[in-house]
Amino acid sequence: MKILLTGCRGQLGLALCQRLDGTPHSLVATDLHNLDITNSPQVDDCVRHEAPQVIINCAALTDVDACEQDEQQAFRVNALGPRNLAVAAQRIGAAMLQISTDYVFSGADDLPRREYDPVSPCNKYGQSKAWGEELVRGCNSRNFVVRTAWLYGEGKNFVQSILKAARERDELAVVTDQVGTPTSARDLSEAILRLIETREYGTYHAVNEGHCSRFEQAAMILTQKGIRTKLKPVDSTAFPRPAQRPAKVILENFMLDLSGIYRFRSWQEALAEYLNKQL
Ligand SMILES: NC(=O)c1ccc[n+]([C@@H]2O[C@H](COP(=O)([O-])OP(=O)(O)OC[C@H]3O[C@@H](n4cnc5c(N)ncnc54)[C@H](OP(=O)(O)O)[C@@H]3O)[C@@H](O)[C@H]2O)c1
Repeated sequence: MKILLTGCRGQLGLALCQRLDGTPHSLVATDLHNLDITNSPQVDDCVRHEAPQVIINCAALTDVDACEQDEQQAFRVNALGPRNLAVAAQRIGAAMLQISTDYVFSGADDLPRREYDPVSPCNKYGQSKAWGEELVRGCNSRNFVVRTAWLYGEGKNFVQSILKAARERDELAVVTDQVGTPTSARDLSEAILRLIETREYGTYHAVNEGHCSRFEQAAMILTQKGIRTKLKPVDSTAFPRPAQRPAKVILENFMLDLSGIYRFRSWQEALAEYLNKQL
């Protein structure tokens, strides 16, 4: 299958490039420097020229506070960008896979979220991603929308920030009131590959199994790496940020389980494997 990938230099983009390497699939990997997804004519030209069977959109504005401060740019990249790709894909009969986020939910209660639950974003990033989902569904009949959470792979992420900070300080304050599911970019790449090999279009939650608070995740990182830095539990009021974060969003992989397409391992198992490879 010929695959056009956007955002190939990001965490998930890199993991997908590695996963697809050595498979029979043919990959056209792009990023902002050669395909700006907000540029509709450029997207059209590229898609017509490359003629992929599927487009995987990993490009996004993922800085949640930057999205809050520049709503227009957030919607340009996270909503119009996916729309441009979905339209171009539809025109040539290609499928479109859009990556989305747990932040489309506000996390106001403890219930696990299924794919059919109504969205309720509490910040501009979540709103722009939710609208991106809608535009993709409306513009391409062969669409996959894959919502994930708390990604870590190669690049900037919470795991790397904790490792760096713990090596520089004796004590770290970490929040206990943000709960979610740390998800390996490597495992997510596997799920995406399984999905695009089907025609089972629709919305999927795709996270490692289980959930934890940021504090519990940090504790596991330090224990696993044998780092003795003390962790201090705090709540989110200790870190005022431009954008509000959802408190507790637990995505349930309901559609993946129902269809039997892919079963994720636990977040602890995936994180342990990742940490083993970190210096
Ligand atoms: N990271 C998380 O914890 C998380 C959680 C849930 C969902 N997600 C979703 O998962 C997907 C992948 O996230 P990630 O962590 O891999 O993101 P990432 O590391 O921030 O990578 C995003 C990539 O998109 C590129 N990009 C930005 N604007 C672009 C544009 N206009 N045209 C083309 N490329 C553009 C960026 O390039 P520059 O770096 O040059 O700007 C970067 O290479 C996103 O859809 C995100 O919303 C992420």
